[in-house]
Amino acid sequence: MSSIVVVGSCMIDSTSFSERLPKPGETIAGTRFDKTFGGKGANQCVAAAKLGATTSLIAALGNDASGREYINQLEKYKINSEHVKLVPDVSSGSAQIMVAENGENMIVIVKGANDYLTSDDVNKARQTIKNASVLITQFESSLDATLEALKLHKGHGTSILNGAPALANPGREILESCDIFCVNETEAQIMTGIEPLNLINAQDALDKLFIQGCKIVIITLGGTGSVFATRKQQKMIHIPVEIVKPIDTTGAGDAFLGALAYFLCYHEKLSLEEKIIRASKIATESVLKIGTQSSFPTKNELPQELFL
Ligand code: RIB
Ligand code: NA
Repeated sequence: MSSIVVVGSCMIDSTSFSERLPKPGETIAGTRFDKTFGGKGANQCVAAAKLGATTSLIAALGNDASGREYINQLEKYKINSEHVKLVPDVSSGSAQIMVAENGENMIVIVKGANDYLTSDDVNKARQTIKNASVLITQFESSLDATLEALKLHKGHGTSILNGAPALANPGREILESCDIFCVNETEAQIMTGIEPLNLINAQDALDKLFIQGCKIVIITLGGTGSVFATRKQQKMIHIPVEIVKPIDTTGAGDAFLGALAYFLCYHEKLSLEEKIIRASKIATESVLKIGTQSSFPTKNELPQELFL
């Protein structure tokens, strides 16, 4: 049976909602506070699981109440968590998130236990990784573990590296090790120095990422949609998205990646362009609801044409 494996992060998200984002040094009163399960790796895994994918997560949490609660939560989504380890004497990763009324956000993460995911842990899960048709990784866990996962998966399907949070220079080896590299506009700016990034200069950013070693690159541009190109056929294709009034854009990139992995795994025959179009629609749904994992749509909540 086809499956998706995510080697990545788990975070406990503390999110404050306010009319606008504060300026440096400013205190403002918010309107709502939520403590939820997040982290880019787990979010991407949940996004795929909610679409009906068979998923496994390889990750690290603190051996504390929130770490154990997180594992229960993964089980509710039917995610295989046998390779989620609980690290003693370390806190689970945490994210402080601020969301403004226009849907924009700011995030500070403290990686905590995520930094304790080692290449040995990844090796212990080698069979799960090799059996999966799609691997998703990010930059929120240790680079060693991430690179190990990409190497193990080589020759076993499609691998995705989400370059988030941004690293100015992740190094050639890791960029060459993934099949699809996906970043948002801010991350692409940091990696290429092209700023502000827009549809007019996006091709230059894609070209720079090919020079850095990437094979297929997707850059997501928020409300402008996304662009993608392959090293062989460098001319970029723009995928626009429906214009909506966002409520909370946190985790929209994760919804996109989880959905893209789903289409790569279960709708292999669709073109990459069509897979990106469908994944973008699913990400757009997620920005219309507060939160990350809880805002990702299930298969039943979506138009069934997306799954033909
Ligand atoms: O991409 C959104 C996620 O980024 C949040 O859930 C937070 O945990 C940070 O990792
Ligand atoms: Na959302």
